[in-house]
Amino acid sequence: MGIIDQHHQNAEKLAAAKTAVKLVKNGDIVGLGTGTTATFAIKELGRLVGEGLNIKAVASSIRTEELAKSLGIEILNLGETSSVDISIDGADEFTESLDLIKGGGGALFREKIMASLSKKAIIVTDSSKKVKKLGAFTLPIEVIPFAYQYVFDQIAKLNGSGKKRTIANHDYITDNGNLIIDADFGLIDNPRALSDALNKIDGLLAHGLFIDLTAEVVMSDRSEIIVFK
Ligand code: 5RP
Repeated sequence: MGIIDQHHQNAEKLAAAKTAVKLVKNGDIVGLGTGTTATFAIKELGRLVGEGLNIKAVASSIRTEELAKSLGIEILNLGETSSVDISIDGADEFTESLDLIKGGGGALFREKIMASLSKKAIIVTDSSKKVKKLGAFTLPIEVIPFAYQYVFDQIAKLNGSGKKRTIANHDYITDNGNLIIDADFGLIDNPRALSDALNKIDGLLAHGLFIDLTAEVVMSDRSEIIVFK
């Protein structure tokens, strides 16, 4: 992507994030996502907290928690929270039926728990994330390390291929101490069926297909905001 494209994409991410933050109300418990688009929302929330907005938040990753705390946002323990009023997170791909692929940033497991706890899970994206069918973006799958080969082989049985995620030639380790397989199933005709099949694999902690977990996608496309719900 060229510098100008990147600039446009960031402008869209910022516009979507600012639109979603307007939905946050005084007193809310807010779920904070992970990634560049969610970061725009967290910074905007931090600014509003500085102006007196009274919220508490749960974080979907260690880096999000650190950012939020640095901006003066009070963080609650996700594991001790039974309900989140509104969450704002990004996505790697979404369809108009509000199915998502998430986890490009490796935070899919906590993001899924956070979305499941949310009364209103809002996804913020730039226009590049909208697709007709999911699957051009490889599907992140978080795996308990000792189940790695087993899960890898089960993915192959579902006609997928997988690649262990690495960073600087080392295994990528999630905030939860696990590995990620980036799995390729081609374009996914039936995301729900694939999600159900993956959910049955022992040792597979979470996958990045988010089905029935999203209330709205707020997408920015150049100067326009489009809301899918
Ligand atoms: C992190 C995620 C992110 O929301 C997703 O990767 C989108 O990131 P970005 O906003 O940087 O494009 O799922 O696990």
